[in-house]
Amino acid sequence: MSTTIQAIRGMNDLLPDDVVYWQWVEGIAREVLESYGYAEIRLPQIERTELFRRSIGEVTDIVEKEMYTFEDRNGDSLTLRPEGTAGCVRAAIENGMLHNQVHRLWYSGPMFRHERPQKGRYRQFYQIGAETFGMEGPDIDAELVLLTARLWNRLGISDVELQINSLGTLDARNRYRLELVAYLEDHRQRLDEDSKRRLEHNPLRVLDSKNPEVQEVVAGAPSLLDHLDGPSRDHFEQLQERIADAGVSFRVNPRLVRGLDYYTRTVFEWVTTELGAQGTICAGGRYDGLVEQLGGKATAAAGFALGMERVVDLVRQSGFHPDRHVDAYLILLGETAQSRGLSLGESLRSQGLRVLVHCGGGSMKSQMKRADKSGAVFALILGDEELAAGNVAVKNLRAAGEQLLLPGQDVAAELVRMLAQNN
Ligand code: HAM
Repeated sequence: MSTTIQAIRGMNDLLPDDVVYWQWVEGIAREVLESYGYAEIRLPQIERTELFRRSIGEVTDIVEKEMYTFEDRNGDSLTLRPEGTAGCVRAAIENGMLHNQVHRLWYSGPMFRHERPQKGRYRQFYQIGAETFGMEGPDIDAELVLLTARLWNRLGISDVELQINSLGTLDARNRYRLELVAYLEDHRQRLDEDSKRRLEHNPLRVLDSKNPEVQEVVAGAPSLLDHLDGPSRDHFEQLQERIADAGVSFRVNPRLVRGLDYYTRTVFEWVTTELGAQGTICAGGRYDGLVEQLGGKATAAAGFALGMERVVDLVRQSGFHPDRHVDAYLILLGETAQSRGLSLGESLRSQGLRVLVHCGGGSMKSQMKRADKSGAVFALILGDEELAAGNVAVKNLRAAGEQLLLPGQDVAAELVRMLAQNN
């Protein structure tokens, strides 16, 4: 016997029972995004490696050690996208979408990062993201936050905290960086190896350390918020006002720095304690410098992305069950019934019903078992007797009660009526 081939670690199959949840979340996300006027954009899953190096930043975990990069047959260095923002900006520049225009876009699809897999962290994972161009905020920043808050509400997710921060302009951040480095150098002996490395290359990321000892050091560090430039401070204050006015609660987290280099001013994360270590279900912020950095005309921009696996996990944990079952399962007893079954199924579907037609014959008992397992609301039974009288027997599988005998031409209308009553 040959050995079986397994999936790549961190890359998951989504089985039909999972997909029911995914489609439900995707459907609601689409509705919410459309209700704010966001237009869908579809982007390649592979881009030139250079795009991610220049946007996410050379000294980030993603670019340093997590990208799936390979040479294609022409010798070009390509990368499976680790996130969606860079590709969206590339597309907006390339398609001339940024000249005196305003855009609200959204996308969804798989992203790839070679991280250490654990619950909630995968190597192929899915994001739904939104990117906006041509608006300086803070109104659009607030809109992005309200949109996500509305989404959690629609999904029945309540245990999430909104954390916000401002990283200021690049200049302000560079000034802050000098002070932070001086402070961290003074406490170098208390930093772990990872933080020492970050201190060399990307000191702001030390603020993000999960190590309790390093967190103690960080607690005494100068705060980025005290170093904001005036316009960024105003922007941040107005953002807070607008979010508060809309009745969404939030916490200012001055240590929130994000793992990608392109952010300026607003950054935010939605965090839950319900999922263990990987508690950030959605994250984003403003990236006013990125378009120019990638060769376009300076353009204000902001967006977010949510992690589908984590959001779906929360929905599942809430105990909610999306209903995706067929309305009726057609049981066919005897050869004549079997030969009529397919066309009866077609006719019922034409009248708006979702119908599973039993294939392959078998006893009443075995077909009834399948009907029950399928989740169908009704079993429709067609045997010699029913055929002779032009009837179909109908049994409600989800409620007690007698089996009904209905004339064939009335079945569809009657089922539609009973289903409407059930809901
Ligand atoms: P990010 O924080 O890298 O930001 O990812 C956004 C979300 O994707 C995370 O909060 C998390 O829910 C999910 N996620 C990230 N990595 C993984 C993983 N390995 N496994 C499962 N889920 C994961 C971005 O990607 C930015 N592009 C967001 C953005 C859009 N900022 C502005 N516009």
